[in-house]
Amino acid sequence: MSTSGGPSLPQIRNLVTEIPGPRSRELFDRRQRSVARGLSHVLPVFVSAAGGGVVVDVDGNSLIDFGSGIAVTSVGEQVAQFTHTCFMVAPYLGYVEVCEQLNKRTPGDHEKRSALLNSGAEAVENAVKIARHATGRDAVVVFDHAYHGRTNLTMAMTAKNMPYKEGFGPFAGEVYRMPMAYPFRWPGGPAACRAEALDVVKNLIHAQVGEENIAAIVIEPIQGEGGFIVPPDGFLAGLADYCRANSIVFVADEIQSGFCRTGDWFACEYEDVVPDIVTTAKGIAGGLPLAGVTGRAELMDSVHPGGLGGTYGGNPVACAAALGAIETMEKEDLAGAARGIEVAMMPRLRELALSNPVIGDVRGRGAMIAVELVKPGTIEPDAAAAAQVAKTCHGNGMIILTCGTYGNVLRFLPPLVIGEALLNEGLDILSDAFSAL
Ligand SMILES: Cc1ncc(COP(=O)(O)O)c(C=O)c1O
Repeated sequence: MSTSGGPSLPQIRNLVTEIPGPRSRELFDRRQRSVARGLSHVLPVFVSAAGGGVVVDVDGNSLIDFGSGIAVTSVGEQVAQFTHTCFMVAPYLGYVEVCEQLNKRTPGDHEKRSALLNSGAEAVENAVKIARHATGRDAVVVFDHAYHGRTNLTMAMTAKNMPYKEGFGPFAGEVYRMPMAYPFRWPGGPAACRAEALDVVKNLIHAQVGEENIAAIVIEPIQGEGGFIVPPDGFLAGLADYCRANSIVFVADEIQSGFCRTGDWFACEYEDVVPDIVTTAKGIAGGLPLAGVTGRAELMDSVHPGGLGGTYGGNPVACAAALGAIETMEKEDLAGAARGIEVAMMPRLRELALSNPVIGDVRGRGAMIAVELVKPGTIEPDAAAAAQVAKTCHGNGMIILTCGTYGNVLRFLPPLVIGEALLNEGLDILSDAFSAL
């Protein structure tokens, strides 16, 4: 039922069914099958419109609103139907539908549940909360070059000091950092990385943390801010197996790599890795603030009702945007578009590397591609060259970003809908910027 909302809604209390009514009860059953148990509600009526001082539910009941979604909708300004109820006060279908989409699209056919939050950092925080609660263990293992956000726990999980952590401590405890399988910088090079990295990590975990103490291992399948680092084939799959064997929750932070960016719905799919929990944000809702935690039903539902939540998490407008964005990704095959971007960009970047020895490595997948700049003939990072190339590109009307622990990586994240002509023009500008170095 879609009544339009806003202050023009009749300002009356009008009950036409019992509370909750049959349609709300039906939707509540659907909610139970997709949304984490840890989110509880003040009133299990599904809202279809709100405005002024009333909330209208899907059964047509008009309720007086003395809650304002926990003190948010103080004035009656609403878009189309309603901007906010607070899912913990009164649920709505959009939230459930986004959870259903996340459960369906994230890797693995097992039974899943999701919870929606506001930001990537909050999603990572909740993934750790849930893993700790479900396992009764404390330790969290993360990796060199990791970026997981700017809240206290996620700063602790993030590797790079400046600008993310400098002066902001003390940080949350029980976070242990392991070497990342970083082919370009692994001692002995990419082949040694492939052969050794997993064993090195397992041995260090055993010696320094103890498998039985670990709630979760959290990793970005392709590291983002740390430099678009792609671990060698087998590393993620080996880590997932290791987690399974030791009852550790394997968390894939797909906040940057997810939603078609790398040429699959999620980067883990490339190697058929099935994480226990996936965190999502960024690409999920076309720019509106929304994030998700999706995981095995038994993990997610180990949390007691009321244990998860937040005032704005899964805001109805953001949910509507997410459903629209996901539909577009599917209809327009944006994963295929990302693979097309890789096909268009990679050969040109490799060619550029041949004539510019400052480019030490070309890597990435789909539309998540980077070049790492070094002093020619070495692996010594050259952040100044990266800054210079970025500056020249900016001056010529192209936005490119730098990243990497050493600030020496140029990353390319074009919109998945970018046209071929524009992409090629961008590569020309990049090529000119290297020539001008
Ligand atoms: C992999 C990863 N995790 C977490 C975050 C934090 O997300 P947010 O900035 O929405 O808190 C980011 C943001 O860049 C990210 O790339």
